[in-house]
Amino acid sequence: MKKRIAIFASGAGSNAQKLIDHFRHHAFASVSLIVCNNPGAGVTEIAAAEKIELLLVDRTSLRSDEFVQLLQQKGIDFIILAGFLLKIPGSLIAAFPGHMVNIHPALLPKYGGKGMYGQFVHEAVIRAGEKESGITIHFVDEHYDHGAIIFQTTCPVSGSDTPESLAQKIHFLEHQHFAPVVERLILKEL
Ligand code: GAR
Repeated sequence: MKKRIAIFASGAGSNAQKLIDHFRHHAFASVSLIVCNNPGAGVTEIAAAEKIELLLVDRTSLRSDEFVQLLQQKGIDFIILAGFLLKIPGSLIAAFPGHMVNIHPALLPKYGGKGMYGQFVHEAVIRAGEKESGITIHFVDEHYDHGAIIFQTTCPVSGSDTPESLAQKIHFLEHQHFAPVVERLILKEL
């Protein structure tokens, strides 16, 4: 039986797309569900194009026992947060111990926490005059951007970088590393 991955995403979904591509013909894992809290998000179009089941949630449904049960019924083994902006409730974390991973567009523990997502992260990094930034892939616990770190890698920040140009560098790193890191994690379980 292939391991079943659920991707949680709120935005454009470029990382979701990379994960889907990576696992499309994979022997041991597949992306079988996309969970999104924003009906207008680009990732919903990706789900439709890829014919992957889409589940729309809100803050309340995410917290319900029924939601955990639904994921379990669907046989989900791993939850991958790829730009998902709602806080993950404790009930979900308890149901998927060591099986929920997030990607953050900075070098945690710096530039994490509530409100630190997307452009806000890159703006803060540039404002602080950092010479490098990067990505962090980590397990999810009950605090924002806090769980054990699995992988980090860096990129330089130059004086001429804008939040937009830094976002491009970060997306490049994310697209290169996220799916292989998730794959390594899944393969360890086999
Ligand atoms: C990614 O850069 C991801 O690291 C970030 O949102 C972006 C989603 O892009 N996540 C966070 O900021 C979480 N705190 P995408 O929709 O193109 O994959």
